[in-house]
Amino acid sequence: MSQTNPQQIEYNLKVVRQFAVVTVIWGIIGMSLGVFIAAQLIWPELNFDTPWLTYSRLRPLHTNAVIFAFGTSALIGTSFYIVQKTCKTALFSDKLASFVFWSWQTVIVLAVITLPMGLSSTKEYAELEWPIDILITLSWVAYIIVFFGTLVKRNTSHIYVANWFYGGFIVTIAVLHIVNSMAIPVSFTKSYSLYAGAVDAMVQWWYGHNAVGFLLTAGFLGMMYYFVPKQAERPVYSYRLSVVHFWALISLYIWAGPHHLHYTALPDWAQSLGMVMSVILFVPSWGGMINGIMTLSGAWHKLKTDPILRFLIVSLSFYGMSTFEGPMMAIKSVNALSHYTDWTVGHVHSGALGWVAMITIGSLYYLIPRLWSQTQMHSIKWINTHFWLHTIGVVLYIVALWISGVMQGLMWRAVNATDGTLTYSFVESVVASYPFWFIRFVGGLFIVAGMILMAVNVYRTIRAGKPTVEYVEDAVEHSSPAPTATQSA
Ligand code: HEM
Ligand code: HEM
Repeated sequence: MSQTNPQQIEYNLKVVRQFAVVTVIWGIIGMSLGVFIAAQLIWPELNFDTPWLTYSRLRPLHTNAVIFAFGTSALIGTSFYIVQKTCKTALFSDKLASFVFWSWQTVIVLAVITLPMGLSSTKEYAELEWPIDILITLSWVAYIIVFFGTLVKRNTSHIYVANWFYGGFIVTIAVLHIVNSMAIPVSFTKSYSLYAGAVDAMVQWWYGHNAVGFLLTAGFLGMMYYFVPKQAERPVYSYRLSVVHFWALISLYIWAGPHHLHYTALPDWAQSLGMVMSVILFVPSWGGMINGIMTLSGAWHKLKTDPILRFLIVSLSFYGMSTFEGPMMAIKSVNALSHYTDWTVGHVHSGALGWVAMITIGSLYYLIPRLWSQTQMHSIKWINTHFWLHTIGVVLYIVALWISGVMQGLMWRAVNATDGTLTYSFVESVVASYPFWFIRFVGGLFIVAGMILMAVNVYRTIRAGKPTVEYVEDAVEHSSPAPTATQSA
């Protein structure tokens, strides 16, 4: 925080710029890896008989790259922007903010090196080995200090709702990471979980599901509550609903993890509890979606001409779809069909590519010109093209996998009426899935093409501008009215 006089405190936009740029780069890398592993499922020889190019090693690299490099960089960057703007104060500490950036990028680079080497804790979405886990903890503690320190020194009486969602995400991820990563190291590169058997599975899916609930959902809802009203130039539809949405979401999500462990050694009551909580979760999820979409009341016409708004609103539609589908899949009898099949992967990507990626892309198109003293992106036409490439890609992906998922589930359970033997071998279900995997691969190509177009657009925008310098308004006034999301760009 550079201070010219007591009234003129400069916002720290540098760290936001850094996170914005790496988000685009990691997005391209992570999604290209997705396309590559999608191709490997069709053409296995694409591993070139090289251990570090095998599907088993690149799949966790894809999930880590999209969730922790692309998604989390977007979340940290936007949270640093929003917390400053809505609290009318600069970040708590520039040095710590810079540490968050560089330590987080180091974590990602270490993931890029160790996962292809086959070093893995084997816990899904928590594959990184214990020394990297310690670095993650340090980076996250610094993040907590910067974010909450900024909230504490705010110049507003009110904490805007986006910060509640970001705050919930930051605290919960810290708790999840520490509890799930508890392990006994046996060497510098290998450790074993502290938990055993069904308890280990439950801790893992308590972590896994809440990584979905708090990182892939609550954090991005924080993004939604700031950028949708900004781009629509309308206040949030219902502020009261947003507060109910927050408390309902965080108090329900935390119980739903057992839906990942239906029909396992987990006690039956825990499975049923997870199922019931997941079904109830539909209500706050849709409350939030409706609140976001209805923010457009009176401004629907903008959707015709504004591709950024289209990204944001369509992302909410995908959020609605995946949070309808999730509770359905959590019902035990439905899960008996969907589990282990492509249906799960289709559900994941309607959330990940439809909701997470689209809300991020829309937010970045709003943010990037403002970080480089421009009024808008280099080409609005290209944003429109990107919107269509992405939307077509996601629809191809998820529709193909719904069909293959249901088909796989039905083929696996089909029995011959005469003698009760299985009608199909597993290999027959794999062969039947190929056409759908090919469609997913084509969908992925569309999506990556859109991301590359975005990168060129971002590059041109940055080249045309220069880093924005902005000062905190009312820096010494401690009783400014509660900010609405439409105040101060
Ligand atoms: C071009 C875009 C993408 C393509 C082509 C793609 C492709 C894939 C493929 C082929 C798999 C493995 C599926 C399997 O093992 O059967 C996968 C898994 C996964 N991907 Fe993606 N992906 C893309 C983007 C993303 C994004 C943006 C995210 C998150 C923000 C994401 C999150 C995941 C997750 C969480 C899994 C694991 C799913 C599970 O275990 O059920 N992907 N992806
Ligand atoms: C109300 C909200 C939601 C509920 C109740 C829900 C429920 C479920 C269920 C039942 C499964 C399948 C578990 C299995 O059979 O193994 C699942 C998988 C998954 N969902 Fe959701 N879902 C919701 C929203 C979302 C959203 C918005 C996203 C992404 C942004 C998402 C990401 C995932 C991922 C990554 C998995 C795969 C985990 C794995 O097996 O690796 N979910 N979800």
